[in-house]
Amino acid sequence: MDPRVIVGPGDDAGVCLFGNDRMVLTVDVITPLVDDPYTFGAISAANSISDVYAMGGTPVTALAVLGFPSCEFEHDVIKNVIRGAVDKLKEADATLIGGHSIEDAEFKFGLAVTGRVDKDKILKAQGAKAGDILILTKPLGIGILSSAFKKAIIKNKDLKAAISQMTTLNKKASIAAVRAGAHAATDITGFGLLGHALNMAKGSKTDFVISFKHVPLLKKTKELSASGIAPKGAHNNLNFFSDRVIFPEGFSKEDKLILSDPQTSGGLLIAVPQEGISRFRQSAKRQKLSYWEIGRVVKGKGRIVIE
Ligand code: CO
Ligand code: CO
Repeated sequence: MDPRVIVGPGDDAGVCLFGNDRMVLTVDVITPLVDDPYTFGAISAANSISDVYAMGGTPVTALAVLGFPSCEFEHDVIKNVIRGAVDKLKEADATLIGGHSIEDAEFKFGLAVTGRVDKDKILKAQGAKAGDILILTKPLGIGILSSAFKKAIIKNKDLKAAISQMTTLNKKASIAAVRAGAHAATDITGFGLLGHALNMAKGSKTDFVISFKHVPLLKKTKELSASGIAPKGAHNNLNFFSDRVIFPEGFSKEDKLILSDPQTSGGLLIAVPQEGISRFRQSAKRQKLSYWEIGRVVKGKGRIVIE
C-alpha cells in the first residue's frame, strides 16, 4: 500500500499524509428527504461532514456535488440548497470552495469534504476493546419517519424532531470522543445501527452487547414501525445483517427494523474505555451534547447481541 495512506477504504473516511498534516477525505451524496431546499442543503452538508467527525477530524473545505434534471429545476431551488450547505459548513468552521454539477433524472446533492486530524486522535471504526462502553449520540428513527412523511402518513411538524437531529453536526460528539480517548467510532448512516455496529465489532474482533431499552428513539418511531412503516433499506439491512445478530427470544420484527433503520446524518457510535467515561460525560455536559450509553463491548468474533 502507498505509505502515505493511513486509513484506506472501509472506514468512514480516508486519511492520508499531506506534508506534515493528516488529511481526512470523504464524499456523500443524497436525494431530498424534506420539501424545503434550504433544509435539505443543511441536512446533506451535515451528513457529508459527519464522516470527518467520525474520524476525530475537523472539516476545512468542501466541494459541492449536484445532480439535477435540467429544465425542470428552478435556479432558486439550487441556490437555496447551496445556501443551506454553506451555512452548515460555516457552523462547522469549513468553507465551500467549488464543486461540480451534472444532469441527472433525479435531484441529488452532497459534498466532498476535506479535513485534518491529529496523528494520535484518529478514530477508526475498528479498535474497540472488551470492557468499552458503547455510546450513541442521536436517536434512531430518521428513515422510518422520513418514509412515513413521503407517504403522507405524518405531517411536517411530526418530522421536526428528525430534521433537527439531521441538521445537528456531530462536532460535539467527536470532540467528546477524542477527549475521552475513545478506542473506535463511526457514524450511523445507511446501514442502520446494526450494520454500522457490526462493522465496528467485526473490525475490532469483539462482540457488541446492546441493550434495546437504552437505545434512544425519535417520537412516533415505535408506532410507525408497528403499523408496518419501514423503508426498504431497513428490510434490506435486516436481511443482510441478521445472521450475525443474536436477538432475545420473541424480539419483534418491528423492533428489529428499528435497529436496522437507515439514518441520514445519524449520530456517532463510540466505544469509550471505562477509564475515559468520566471525561466523556464531562465533555458532553460542558458542550450540552445529548448521548445514551446503549451497551458494552465484550470478547467475541464480530457479532451483535441484543438484550
Ligand atoms: Co460514515
Ligand atoms: Co459515508
